[in-house]
Amino acid sequence: MQAPFIFVREGGVVGFAKDILCIGAGYVGGPTMAMIAARCPQYKVTVVDINHARIAAWQSDQLPIYEPGLDEVVRQARDRNLFFSTHVEQGIRDADIIFVSVNTPTKTFGQGAGRAADLQYWEKTARQILEHADRNKIVVEKSTLPVRTAEAMERILNANTKNIRFEVLSNPEFLAEGSAITDLEAPDRILIGSKETPEGITARKVIVDIYANWVPRENIIESNVWSSELSKLAANAFLAQRISSINTISALCEKTEADVDEVAYAIGKDSRIGPKFLKASVGFGGSCFKKDILNLVYICHSYGLSEVAAYWESVVKINEWQESRFVRTILESMFNTVAGKRIALLGFAFKANTGDTRESPAIYIARGLAEERAEVVVTDPQALANARDDLTDMGDRVHFESDPYTAAEGAHALAILTEWDVYRQLDYARIFASMEQPAFLFDGRNILDHHRLFELGFNVFPIGKAALKHF
Ligand code: NAD
Ligand code: UGA
Repeated sequence: MQAPFIFVREGGVVGFAKDILCIGAGYVGGPTMAMIAARCPQYKVTVVDINHARIAAWQSDQLPIYEPGLDEVVRQARDRNLFFSTHVEQGIRDADIIFVSVNTPTKTFGQGAGRAADLQYWEKTARQILEHADRNKIVVEKSTLPVRTAEAMERILNANTKNIRFEVLSNPEFLAEGSAITDLEAPDRILIGSKETPEGITARKVIVDIYANWVPRENIIESNVWSSELSKLAANAFLAQRISSINTISALCEKTEADVDEVAYAIGKDSRIGPKFLKASVGFGGSCFKKDILNLVYICHSYGLSEVAAYWESVVKINEWQESRFVRTILESMFNTVAGKRIALLGFAFKANTGDTRESPAIYIARGLAEERAEVVVTDPQALANARDDLTDMGDRVHFESDPYTAAEGAHALAILTEWDVYRQLDYARIFASMEQPAFLFDGRNILDHHRLFELGFNVFPIGKAALKHF
């Protein structure tokens, strides 16, 4: 811990230059605020949450989320100018700027169920701010929200009789899990939207100034508040669309003996297309792609744009199809039955370098195989606790094993579901020797050397490439 920086504020008050609050200490609130605090020692940054266990973890050496590099950033600023607390009301009173980073899941009830964003946590926060604020504040939407939510937020907040004004801005977060710290350190862009009134522009400048402490000015984009809100949904939709597009091509590759990695490389060399997000896979997961696209779909429908809605919805439908196609491939290639066969799932996190399993394709695949009465064994270097939670209702139809070699022992098949580096380096000859024969390997991430595995004796089924079979 380093000594706090003390500044003289306007009016001669001694203290931090600004008091920043973040409501919501999740995957976004925790890391983003830790980065702001680390890069801006002149600001006091407090992160509050109603989840006491989560806050206790942020205060401990065992942070509540696994993210490479996060420990160092937190350690640098915690108790200096970064604080974690459950005192939401006090935090609101003290803050000049309030970032709201609460969860905005898909609604599961009533109108828009399964598509619209569930804004109950968001609205509750607005009402809490309204109740406890006693001076003007800037409120920043960090959560991903439907376009025009800032309008509703401002209506709630400015319907006060305390003569307080709130300026509501949008500053969506583009970090990806597993690379959150590098994304926050050197973001492609920071997007800040505000109303284009004098007050809106002034508030926008305050937020720009925070990021300008470490982000080059040309990477900070300013826009109107609606463009900012919509850009976040559109960015996730475009990213997911690329994955669904390459996944459709993967199916065609399997029929035609084209190789999806070669096709992706060839098309990605076109600078208009670019190489990123063209890795065919078992499907995209994560807490946001599906929810944000479905939210976009719902918004389009509500504006009468049914063709636009159908276009984006197909991105999610193709993803679901790709997941079910993977289960079907396992079933069909293992002689149309997996009943009683041990199948080891290598990886459960929705991507490498995170313990997060939200919407992980592995959940769907584990369930699909268990329904076929396979004996499913799940292993993962970081996500086993979450995997247990996701599959609690499966009882003894699913087992959990931290060691991949033990998971593979006696298995009829392995399926790579997360692209963890550790799975690239396993001793597959040893694994092959410990498995039932014929041994199958389904590489849902195309990370292994398929020809070598075939030579070792495996029957290998990659994504978007011809299968290598000994029969
Ligand atoms: P999360 O579920 O990990 O964290 C949200 C936190 O908000 C929870 O800890 C919850 O207890 C807390 N919370 C809810 N209501 C509260 C209240 N009234 N007062 C105090 N705390 C409250 O969610 P997340 O993954 O951090 O996502 C937050 C938002 O950011 C979502 O809108 C998401 O779409 C968006 N987003 C997420 C990511 C990501 O990688 N996870 C990336 C970009 C944007
Ligand atoms: C995604 C976006 O990349 C972030 O910009 C955004 O801020 C975030 O969603 C959000 O709004 O929550 P994230 O879901 O953390 O980030 O991770 P990604 O790297 O985008 O991966 C999402 C899924 O797509 C993973 O399951 C990954 O394995 C899969 N994927 C990704 C592929 O199958 N192929 C690819 O080429 C890339």
